[in-house]
Amino acid sequence: MSKQKRIAMITSGGDAPGMNSAIRAITLKALSCNYQIIGYHGGYNGLIDENYTELGAHQVNDIIHRGGTIIKSARCPAMHTESGILQAANSLRKCHVDALIVIGGDGSFKGAEALSAHWSGQIIGIPGTIDNDINGTDATIGFYTAIDTALGCIDKIRDTAQAFERTFVVEVMGRDCGIIAMEAGLASGAEQIICKELIDDEQQFIAQLKQDVALSLAQDAAHSYVLVMAEHSLSISAQELAEQLSDFTGVDSRSAILGYVQRGGAPVAGDRILATQLGVEAVKQIELGNTGIMVGIENAQVTTTALSDTSDTQARNVNFVARLKEYRL
Ligand code: F6P
Repeated sequence: MSKQKRIAMITSGGDAPGMNSAIRAITLKALSCNYQIIGYHGGYNGLIDENYTELGAHQVNDIIHRGGTIIKSARCPAMHTESGILQAANSLRKCHVDALIVIGGDGSFKGAEALSAHWSGQIIGIPGTIDNDINGTDATIGFYTAIDTALGCIDKIRDTAQAFERTFVVEVMGRDCGIIAMEAGLASGAEQIICKELIDDEQQFIAQLKQDVALSLAQDAAHSYVLVMAEHSLSISAQELAEQLSDFTGVDSRSAILGYVQRGGAPVAGDRILATQLGVEAVKQIELGNTGIMVGIENAQVTTTALSDTSDTQARNVNFVARLKEYRL
């Protein structure tokens, strides 16, 4: 039997569908190893405030299909300060925690790295964010659901665009990463996809975009035209872009911002399975005595990546851009 350990977990940063599936998997796997398991409430804030719950099978048995996170999530400005980090480390010591699992994104992993300088316990990361902007995994928990949600909305917008012969600029989430826009754009057959990864010179990009839209509408004025745009990809808003397109093409253009709807809802199968695999693998890494790593799945294989390397997303973004360029028709 494994040595008795006390494992803590947090869900941190933007919540993502499938976080509950990961909480379930971690809890059930930890209990099967005879470990104790606790969940701090509201990410690093719960750690700092020593606000936690002991978790048992009955708390997690019926959550695999639920959006949100039963232990809550939050961003934690205090983790950007030395005193906040020290408080978090003290709280882990006071609570006799041997290992901490952080389910979150880039910012949450940076917090974990900062914590490791003041706390000697094991730290394992699980990538959980709709943004899919983490190196060391093909997908983050929540991404598959987010693109499906975005896709469902874009399909509906396509219907009204078609009926009214309108052009639509649809803004999707993704903070600094255009992967939701690329994948939802590809899946919806969007005529244009706008994200930072595809833009060298914004003025030139917008000028070309207007020409392309105008040409396409001139060839077939009766068709709908959908542009999927990642948030923060341009210095102008989706609404401003739609207005500029209306002026340039003479065709009625509207905008729609999908926003937080992309973070909610029941996780799709892909996210539940990913979360279950990564939850189990995180506990296995704790059994092995490892620390300072994130578990991921790449090419159907379980991988581990140093937490310090998880923010270097340049190489993986190249793959997404290449796929988009090859297969967008
Ligand atoms: O990181 C997930 C995410 O939903 C991003 O796509 C988005 O830019 C950001 O969080 C929004 O953050 P907040 O919930 O703090 O407004």
